[in-house]
Amino acid sequence: MMAASTDVTLPIIDLTGIFDATQNPKFVQETSQQLRSAMMEFGFFYIKGHGINSTLIDQLEEVFHNFFQLPLEEKRKIRMELAGLAWRGWFPLHGEFTSGKRDRKEGYYFGTECEDDSLEERLMRGRNLWPEKCPKLKGLLLQYLDELRVLAQNLLSLVSLALGLEREYFLKRFTQDPTILFRAFIYPPMNEANPNEWGVGEHTDMGFLTILKQDACGGLEVYSKNHDKWIEALPIENTFVVNIGDMLERWTHGIFIATPHRVRNATKKVRLSMPFFFDPEWNCKLEPIPTELLSQDLFNKQDNIKSHRWDGLLMDKLDPNLTYGEFVDSKITKCFPFLRKHTKENS
Ligand code: OGA
Ligand code: NI
Repeated sequence: MMAASTDVTLPIIDLTGIFDATQNPKFVQETSQQLRSAMMEFGFFYIKGHGINSTLIDQLEEVFHNFFQLPLEEKRKIRMELAGLAWRGWFPLHGEFTSGKRDRKEGYYFGTECEDDSLEERLMRGRNLWPEKCPKLKGLLLQYLDELRVLAQNLLSLVSLALGLEREYFLKRFTQDPTILFRAFIYPPMNEANPNEWGVGEHTDMGFLTILKQDACGGLEVYSKNHDKWIEALPIENTFVVNIGDMLERWTHGIFIATPHRVRNATKKVRLSMPFFFDPEWNCKLEPIPTELLSQDLFNKQDNIKSHRWDGLLMDKLDPNLTYGEFVDSKITKCFPFLRKHTKENS
């Protein structure tokens, strides 16, 4: 198997001070232009100076390592089947499918905590499942979700500016009540007998922006359409890797591309990663942003290299009357075939 290339590197965007109310507007504009280039060229970039407390991240990583080392019967107490449609909880190694193949990873899913049982049961809404044996997890994770939610809203304001839209455009139209998912994964050390097995196969993310904390193992590969090759997103300390999901591609008429990526842990250590998915409101429509609202020069710069899509979907052909929720529903059962069948009553 050909190794991914390291001669092309993803851009790093420095956010230090950028979201302060007193920040110089010229600097904000310049940063949004950097973001725009990164999103058009790669759809993937690093952020530094993001302001998320590194102690919080370290503590969270430690708790997850502890959690995944618990005996199977402990982890099974919060297995995903028990959460029904809420789509939360733990799944075992090889429990998830990407591109029709089983991934070589184990994981634990979370979402916005919703304790209001009077709301109608629907996909992705509900309570998280917390492990008895890791009592610190809940406090740390809820704090992390709060902080990343603010960071993501702020980032989206820069994305709005990058497109020539008013700063609050995405917030007003798509993320007043965002769909938030968080996952922790471990990827076991490389299997010498089968070194080509993917930890997660090629895919794009479904929503808006993904903010990923990876550890020092590496192994994340990103497809660069301009170079027509896979490049490595090597770990860089104190950064997050950010990427665009399908909806941002859809809403921007493909100006920003949801970039395929995949993971293989080639080290002898357990790789831990923590993606945070900041996604649109459940009921918003797949209707793209009116072209006249967007900077017109974006369309001139848009190259026509159509990257092959891993799932064969054509983003520009989706029905604009579909909602984000319906889109997710149609995709998700391919990753977790049991989800459709299980509800709280029959699991
Ligand atoms: C994902 C993903 C990358 C990683 O969960 O969608 O791409 O490093 N994860 O775990
Ligand atoms: Ni992904």
